[in-house]
Amino acid sequence: MAPAPYEQATDVCLGRIVRLLMEHATVVVSGTKIAQEISSNRSEVWRLIQQLRGLGVDVAGHPATGYQLKSVPDLLLPEILGPLLRGTIFDTHVHHFYKIGSTNTAAMAAAADGIAEGSVFLAEEQTAGRGRGANSWESARSAGIYCSVVLRPPLPPSEVLVMALAAGLAVRAAIEQVDARVRPDLKWPNDVLIAGKKVCGILTEMHAEVTRVRYVVVGIGINVNQPNFPKELENEAISLRMVTGSEWSRVELAAALLKSLDQEYRLLLEETDARQSILQRFAEQSSWVRGKQVCIEENGSRVEGSTDGLDDRGFLQVRTAQGVQTILSGTVRAQ
Ligand code: BTN
Repeated sequence: MAPAPYEQATDVCLGRIVRLLMEHATVVVSGTKIAQEISSNRSEVWRLIQQLRGLGVDVAGHPATGYQLKSVPDLLLPEILGPLLRGTIFDTHVHHFYKIGSTNTAAMAAAADGIAEGSVFLAEEQTAGRGRGANSWESARSAGIYCSVVLRPPLPPSEVLVMALAAGLAVRAAIEQVDARVRPDLKWPNDVLIAGKKVCGILTEMHAEVTRVRYVVVGIGINVNQPNFPKELENEAISLRMVTGSEWSRVELAAALLKSLDQEYRLLLEETDARQSILQRFAEQSSWVRGKQVCIEENGSRVEGSTDGLDDRGFLQVRTAQGVQTILSGTVRAQ
């Protein structure tokens, strides 16, 4: 079957090789058999095996003997992740990329083309990972989770902020589920912090009419196994591995994340008091929502004051010398 436009030929070949090796995990698979599987030749198989090894996949063997997987790889492949997502809206449409510009850009384009709700875009590496505002997102190969999901909520655009807040709750719950010792903080609207540094960022983008959302893409970047960060980020970013001192399974965390996101999304669509529940839980789980001295700078304006809760749409209230102000966007910083 021809790959969809957002799937790259190399990704499809690497995925097929891993799937074949996983299906024959106890035996050595010949280069010829793998070449048949990907409709290519043995030297191309060798090149692709080297590429897989570069991604941390533990493959034994060489062209003369054939190849065998030594352990289940911690790759976010549909074959590995899909079975862990049964019963969620995400279980059948997992798209995996070894390298991509940005999973959010790909998901937005696919959503515009009509891709199904619940489609998930995951990458091992992003070359143009995007953050909020004009920021970029550091997306080193196989170190983090770079994930975007396509949702088509029957909601007005004004409810999307609450969805974005719910995504933060889902990330926090997933991290705690994998290791209950780690207690992340939430910073409005969308940052997940540990020890004051960012462990996860969320970029929510949408296409909407005035009263109706057409689609939303929630893009989530989690710093998982980075041993450290470049100098310019070391005061701002932290990874889960840096917190606990040991490697995390990205597969386990991504599965926990998508299950938790599924739960929050269902709640939002099905329960009448969901919005209240999300706002209340966000406020309870965030040290930033009340009584924090902050400043918010955006487009040349600056607001300074003490945080004073969320309003019923999810916007941050800040008590300033001029009275209470509602923050619609911008980066909140501690003072
Ligand atoms: C932020 O600035 O805090 C948001 C960062 C969001 C990064 C994620 S990684 C997966 C998805 N693809 C992107 O290009 N960005 C988001």
